[in-house]
Formats: sequence, structure tokens, C-alpha cells
Amino acid sequence: MSAGLSPSLVPNERAASNASAPVGIFDSGLGGLSVLRAVRALLPRERLIYVADSLHAPYGERDDDFIVDRTMAIGEWLVGQGAKALVVACNTATAQSIALVRERLPIPLVGVEPGVKPAAAVSRSRVVGVLATAVTLRSARFQSLLERYAGDCRFICQAGHGLVQAVERCDTSSPALMALLESYLAPMLGAGADTLVLGCTHYPFLDRAIRDIAGERLQIVDTSVAIARQLYRLLDAHALKNDSAPPENLPRFCSTADGESQRQLAASLLQLDAPVEHVDIPSRRTRLAEPDIV
Ligand code: DGL
Repeated sequence: MSAGLSPSLVPNERAASNASAPVGIFDSGLGGLSVLRAVRALLPRERLIYVADSLHAPYGERDDDFIVDRTMAIGEWLVGQGAKALVVACNTATAQSIALVRERLPIPLVGVEPGVKPAAAVSRSRVVGVLATAVTLRSARFQSLLERYAGDCRFICQAGHGLVQAVERCDTSSPALMALLESYLAPMLGAGADTLVLGCTHYPFLDRAIRDIAGERLQIVDTSVAIARQLYRLLDAHALKNDSAPPENLPRFCSTADGESQRQLAASLLQLDAPVEHVDIPSRRTRLAEPDIV
């Protein structure tokens, strides 16, 4: 884990004991694929099930109860699929629901938080930009990260409205996206920021766009490698590391939507040509949203 990231490490007595079982990775949509990429690089023998809740993305525009409801439902679904550990590869879901998920799920889990501490450690100008969802930025967990680790750094926090939707459409470079991104980055650059925290797992897919706008002026803090390292430690601590499966097996990709963008993004940015299964994962709030059947 890079200094300062604090994915939740939750040892649990009832942890699944089967090392050959898969690791579940979940995000509101495609962003968690940036975490999956890092996990595959570090733990190539692990079998992975990835769930994108793209039907309900973006979570960053949802209320807190909705996010908790979906995170629990998907976590339980993954446990039902035999997952031995869970990566909540979504800053927004972690911010709102990690405590409850930790309490209720019978497997170890890793969550993800914006890299405030590593950013404060590397910034020379002492001005740092943070791009994250509105939900993450207003969460008590994020405020507490700032209180603990910002030190003498000034953090300029910007909600990335529209960015998750762009990545969900596989748009990582259109003129409209570039203009939107520039409108978020310009005030940070103008204020002298030299470091940018990517506080949403969708944003690493905008890495090139950010570099096209900011050049070398911003060093980017992306926590996906740190999350993979934390998962490694967690599996090791629970004797759950899979050392026997053949390396480079393809993940099982699942989506609550049609999965087309997921297939495209995985193929173009991760060079993973794998089918995407459609899955229905009902939850209290989504059931309520369905029309009554007479
Ligand atoms: N990838 C999610 C995160 O890290 C995006 C949340 C959303 O769907 O708005 O926060």
C-alpha cells in the first residue's frame, strides 16, 4: 500500500477457508476495473469475479441509503458465489457502507479511500487537488482523512460530476469530456496544485486525458496498486492466497446492465477479451423502484 492509503482490513473468524475460491471485486460500474488490473498484476493466480452495478451507476449522485443497500446486496451475492474475500473497489461505496459491510459479511474485505496521506507526503507546492464523487467528498470518512493527514497542505476538492458517466460510455477522450475535465483542473492548477488525488476508481481511465491537459504539472495519486498490495497481505494473513491455479486466468465479468461497455473497456484498456454475464441482483431499494405487477 502506498503511504497513507487505508483500505479496511477486516479479519473475520468466519472467513472462507478455501484458497482456490475466487476474490469478489465490486464497483458501481467500470471503475473497479482499474483495481482489477492492479490485482491481476500482483496476484495473477487468483480467480476473480468482477461485478459492475452499471445499471445503478453513478452512485455518486445517489442517496446514502441506496449506496448501502446496493453494496450489501452485491456483497451478499458475491458471498453466495463462493467469494473468499471482497474488494469494494469504489470510494463512494466504501465511504458510505464499509462499516456495515464489515459487520455483516462473513469474509475478509478491502475498501478504498482517496490517497490524501500519500498526496500530502509528496506535494512540494503544498497545494493538492482532489477529484472524487460528491458523496465521497461530503462523507465523514473523507473529512476525517483530511483532518488526520492534510497537515499544512491545502486540499482543493472538486466533485467530478459527469466523469463517471463518461467512463461508463467508454468515453476517455472526447472534446466534451476534455472540456469538462479542464474546467475541473484549471482552478487547481491556477491555485498552484502540483498533485492530484484520483478519489474515484473510474478516474485512472482518464489518466491520459489528465496528462494531456496538465502535462507534467500534476503528479497523480492513484491508489489501485496500494489496494492490490493490501489484498495480497489480507489473503496471506488468512492463508487464503491461491498458489496453485494457472496464472493469467480470465476474470468472470458480471454486470447488472447489458455489459457492452464493460466488454469494450476491458478489451481496449486492459487487453482482456472476456464475455460479460448479465446478472440480476435485486435489493430493497431497487425492488421498491420497480413498478407493481398486477
Ligand atoms: N468508482 C466509483 C468510486 O470510486 C464511482 C462512484 C459512482 O458511481 O459515482 O467512487
